[in-house]
Amino acid sequence: MQSQQLALSAQEIEELQSAASAAALNAYAPYSKFRVGAALRLVGGEMVTGANVENASYGLTICAERSAVCAMVAQYGPGARVRAVCVANLNHAASSPCGACRQVLAEFMDESGWVIFPASTGFEAKTFRELLPFGFKLL
Ligand code: THU
Repeated sequence: MQSQQLALSAQEIEELQSAASAAALNAYAPYSKFRVGAALRLVGGEMVTGANVENASYGLTICAERSAVCAMVAQYGPGARVRAVCVANLNHAASSPCGACRQVLAEFMDESGWVIFPASTGFEAKTFRELLPFGFKLL
C-alpha cells in the first residue's frame, strides 16, 4: 500500500489544522473578510501552506488551496505530490474547497489522498475521490 492511501492519524490531522489556521492569519481578504488558510502534507512528509489573496478585480482572487499549490511547486518543483490538504478559516464557517481548487488539486493528488475541511458538523475528512469524482485529467 502506498503512503498516500494510509489513513491520517489524529495527530497528523491536528498538525494540518493548526498549520492551516495559522496560514489563515496571513490571508489578504479586505473585500470578503473571509480569511482562509490551507496546509498541504506532501507525500515526502513536507508541509506547505497558503492563504487566500483577494483583488480589487474580484475574479482575480486566489483561494488558499491554490495559493498553497503554487507555493508547493515553487518550493519543491513540478514532481511534488499532495497526500493531504486541510482547509481552515477564521470565520467559523463551513468551507470545503471550491470547484476550481478541486480541479487544480487534481493535478497533484491521487484519488486516495485526503481532504480535511470545516463542515457544519465540524471538521470532515474525505478522500479526494469523494470530493472530485470524474475530474478532468490529461495525464
Ligand atoms: N476561498 C478560499 O480561499 N478557499 C475556499 O475553499 C473557499 C473560498 C476564499 C476566496 C475568497 O477570497 C473568499 O474565500 C470568499 O469567497
